[in-house]
Amino acid sequence: MSLALDLPRLQTALRLPTQDERQQLLHGLLQPRAHIDSKYFYDDRGCELFTAICRLDEYYPTRTEARIFSQHREAIAEQLPGHMQWIDLGCGDCRKTEDWLSAVAPARVIGVDIAGEFLQTSLAEVAQRHPQLECIGVVSDFTQHLDLHELLAERPSAPPVFFYPGSSIGNFEPRAAMRFLRRIRAHCGQHGRLLIGADLVKPRDILEAAYDDASGVTAEFNLNVLNVVNRELDADFNAAHFRHFAHFDEAHRRVEMHLVSAREQNVNLGVHANRRFGANEHILTEYSHKYSLDEFRALLAASGLRCSHYWTDPQDWFGVFLAEPV
Ligand code: AVI
Repeated sequence: MSLALDLPRLQTALRLPTQDERQQLLHGLLQPRAHIDSKYFYDDRGCELFTAICRLDEYYPTRTEARIFSQHREAIAEQLPGHMQWIDLGCGDCRKTEDWLSAVAPARVIGVDIAGEFLQTSLAEVAQRHPQLECIGVVSDFTQHLDLHELLAERPSAPPVFFYPGSSIGNFEPRAAMRFLRRIRAHCGQHGRLLIGADLVKPRDILEAAYDDASGVTAEFNLNVLNVVNRELDADFNAAHFRHFAHFDEAHRRVEMHLVSAREQNVNLGVHANRRFGANEHILTEYSHKYSLDEFRALLAASGLRCSHYWTDPQDWFGVFLAEPV
């Protein structure tokens, strides 16, 4: 069997879920304003639900970004260095990267994702379809920890192009977004680039519908986080006793998702911890920040990156930004 030979190189830079992470999750739930980090959405069921969200009529970001990419692919590719190392942050099934391969002709592709098995399978399929291309997987929670210096140094003449589509940058609070962008900046050297998608501010009704769709997929996605927490902490949340709530906070320019306790209830949070939730008490589960074009360019600038070009859709609902180190 030659299957093992066909698998792309995979390296693990994952800090396994530690006692510390569980403590943080517990700590968040015990705060007067309880919160759960949005990274806990993405167990297998959460990933399936997120894929379904991306296909919803109300959830415009995925298709709007895809249209910008397909309409401007050649123009974007022209601005990128030739012979680059293409780094897909959160590559998932690698489909977005595959759409770029013929336009950008990378020297190699580095897919970074937290889900190791899925990453290896997806990259193996890319490698099979593109046998000349070197594909490498890095299993990492890159939002917490990003260190690709050694790997990139293996190809000193191939500058890195970081690809971070999907507006996931909006899930960071602005200061954390800046820290994350600075970490990318630190990998860029002189010729590295960042190609990033960001969701833009738009009328409240469109934003709120995107995060509270009529068919209830986003509600199920939000409530599913309680199952994840139950497994992580050995807790006993009953998802039927909470409801989904999404609203646009205009002052902070972000959509917030919450779970609202439908009644007064006690939840066991595992060993020695208990939390009483009053009726209508909220648990914050996600921020999704929306930017104006100027605000996003300012965020890049504050992170040591200059926006050289950007592309939007005709309604200015979504922006794709190309940035280079200052
Ligand atoms: C992953 N991220 C960009 C999504 C967003 O729009 O903030 C997550 C999401 N939450 C609800 N719907 C989609």
